[in-house]
Amino acid sequence: MTDSGTALSDAWARLRDLASRPGGADIRALFGADPARATAFSARLDDLTLDFSKTAIDSEARAALFALARTAGLESFRRRLFAGEAVNLTEGRAAMHMALRSPADAGLRAALPGGIDDASGLAAAERAKMRNFVYSVHEGRIHAADGRPFEVVLNIGIGGSDLGPVMAAEALTMGAGAVLKPYFLSNVDGVALAALRRQIDPARTLVLVASKSFTTQETAVNARAVRAWFAESLGEAAIGTHFAALSTNLTATAAFGIRPEQVFGFRDWVGGRYSVWSSVGLSVALAAGWEAFAAMLEGGWEMDCHFRDAPFERNLPVLLALAGIWHVNGCRYGSQAVLAYDERLRRFPAYLQQLEMESNGKSVRLDGGAVTTETCPVIFGEPGTNAQHSFMQLIHQGTRVVPVDFILAAECEDGRADAHRILAANALAQAEALLAGKTEAEVRAEMVASGADADTIDTIAPHRVFPGNRPSVMLLFRRLDARTLGRLVALYEHKVAVQGAIWGIDSFDQWGVELGKKLAGALLPELEGAAAKPHDPSTTALIARFRELGG
Ligand code: F6P
Repeated sequence: MTDSGTALSDAWARLRDLASRPGGADIRALFGADPARATAFSARLDDLTLDFSKTAIDSEARAALFALARTAGLESFRRRLFAGEAVNLTEGRAAMHMALRSPADAGLRAALPGGIDDASGLAAAERAKMRNFVYSVHEGRIHAADGRPFEVVLNIGIGGSDLGPVMAAEALTMGAGAVLKPYFLSNVDGVALAALRRQIDPARTLVLVASKSFTTQETAVNARAVRAWFAESLGEAAIGTHFAALSTNLTATAAFGIRPEQVFGFRDWVGGRYSVWSSVGLSVALAAGWEAFAAMLEGGWEMDCHFRDAPFERNLPVLLALAGIWHVNGCRYGSQAVLAYDERLRRFPAYLQQLEMESNGKSVRLDGGAVTTETCPVIFGEPGTNAQHSFMQLIHQGTRVVPVDFILAAECEDGRADAHRILAANALAQAEALLAGKTEAEVRAEMVASGADADTIDTIAPHRVFPGNRPSVMLLFRRLDARTLGRLVALYEHKVAVQGAIWGIDSFDQWGVELGKKLAGALLPELEGAAAKPHDPSTTALIARFRELGG
């Protein structure tokens, strides 16, 4: 093993040793030993606070995590990322989504196979075209074929061409109201389209076909179906006015018949799941207004600068990532819950599922060898308080420990301060309960006080015990405005990049989605009646049964 290889395996071993120290998981004891722990294990970017004091990371563990990050080359990865080098090794691409939110003169560049892009400049030019379009639509200079204004924007796309836009559009319009009412069509399921047909009027609708590659089957099928519906309803001549495309594949958008002035591009150095900041975010800007979209970009850029410049000790993406590494690799927890106590963020977990699991759900290192550590945990979530009435039972009392990220805004923005305080009380109480737990003695005392008889107490008390010491992280900020949303999304993007760098994997490719796509393409003709091809016996039987059942 090389010296650096040895140093890295020593750093991993040190982490595991610290996590398995006897008594090492006693978070309550850490608070007892250090009254200033809540501050010492928190960091801030303006009003955005990351509190990771309710984890079992102590000073020694934190130092070991920083040492691991340094040994794994995080500083040089961060430099190479911002220098626009091809950190997406397997696709030979930079990951320069930060340029999309940078000022035009920020000087971010991106390596291309045949040269270098001025990524900040290009992104600013694309942004200016989007801005013009958005204002023209909102002010009625660009209008529907009948001369009246557009009132609805329909985004057709899937994965990164859907999850970021739907998450951000909801977050920015649910409270504030929408300029154009946003709708999203992603799944290739006729039922989704049929439901849409009952909800929107083609005459008032601007359709955005969002697809980085413009070859994704689901999006192509949906776009063709919506095009046929609109042509039937408005006439073929209206299609040019009612359709725009968001893509890197300008040849394919032309072949689909989208007017060049209604095509909004971006470059290959923007990954699909990082593309909400690009023209793929046009539905967000049309729905929430340009100012809101621009503020989201500004918030994202603030987080970029913070991630690039702040020392690890105060760096929110680094700290959030290291808390995750501690849980996955030190404590060996296999999942991670995200609970935003904010209805506007109800699609945030779905967005994070793609961001985290498509980015870091890998088992091969950049050098082609197998990883020697666990990588991405299973990410899931729901808005709080709904989650409390669903899976929180397992998180409080189940056999598995599931670390939680809580997300909470301090200010109430809807005039219902009473409801907001209930929401906040629940978020804070859940984290407190996970930490504190409840001993059997406490349960028994409580039951005695409430008058329960001895037999009932013996039978019921064990079921009412909470082990406690269950870790969580809190992200608390003033209000969920567009700037904060931008900060939050960029925080998680960089968290994912930091973890990928430490695990030594390519966080920016997604080969794992290819095999299923290919097999679906090969299997489809059989569902359409073609002769059976060889499959495993289960698949062969299921195809036959599907057809027997009328499929
Ligand atoms: O599912 C794989 C994937 O390539 C995602 O990475 C991407 O976000 C999604 O499909 C949609 O791709 P496109 O924007 O090219 O249609």
